[in-house]
Amino acid sequence: MSRLSLSAAADGREFRNALGCYATGIAVVTLRTPPGDLLGLTVNSFNSVSLAPPLVVWSLSNASSFLAAFEASEYYAINVLAADQRELSQRFASRTEDRFGGLALDEGLGGAPLLPACCARFECRNATRHAGGDHVVFIGEVERFDYREGEPLIYFGGAYRQLAA
Ligand SMILES: Cc1cc2nc3c(=O)[nH]c(=O)nc-3n(C[C@H](O)[C@H](O)[C@H](O)COP(=O)(O)O)c2cc1C
Repeated sequence: MSRLSLSAAADGREFRNALGCYATGIAVVTLRTPPGDLLGLTVNSFNSVSLAPPLVVWSLSNASSFLAAFEASEYYAINVLAADQRELSQRFASRTEDRFGGLALDEGLGGAPLLPACCARFECRNATRHAGGDHVVFIGEVERFDYREGEPLIYFGGAYRQLAA
């Protein structure tokens, strides 16, 4: 069913549905706090911004319990999930106490944990932050990265998907 000229302010549910038409990947953004705690959350707001300098973007809810830690951190890592990592997406979006339990982590810049078996991992300097309504927009400068062959996890219409053959 399509309707024209809905009001984004008045039709919040419809606005979310329309945004869900834009298929994304799924990433887990991680950091290590100065005392050594590991934090990470699932996002689908990740995207590329610039090649030279190498910049990426993602946004964090103003209501997130991680906001102060991400605003203060010099580095964070962005882990792009593979098609078979749906469980990690759910784990890093849930109330799970130890989100990193049982994972064979690598250590990125600033101690940010790098998750195993991801499609790509970007180690970012926390370059700039901008107020963006009910989110804070983070622009990261990628200092190191790695990637591998393989299918990504897809998010579309509020559900996980996989690439068709
Ligand atoms: C598919 C998916 C995409 C998400 N994308 C974002 C996002 O881009 N930004 C954000 O702040 N939260 C996003 N979330 C929600 C966070 O993962 C979730 O609120 C967070 O892990 C909760 O942690 P907390 O309650 O300890 O703050 C997303 C969740 C899911 C399942």
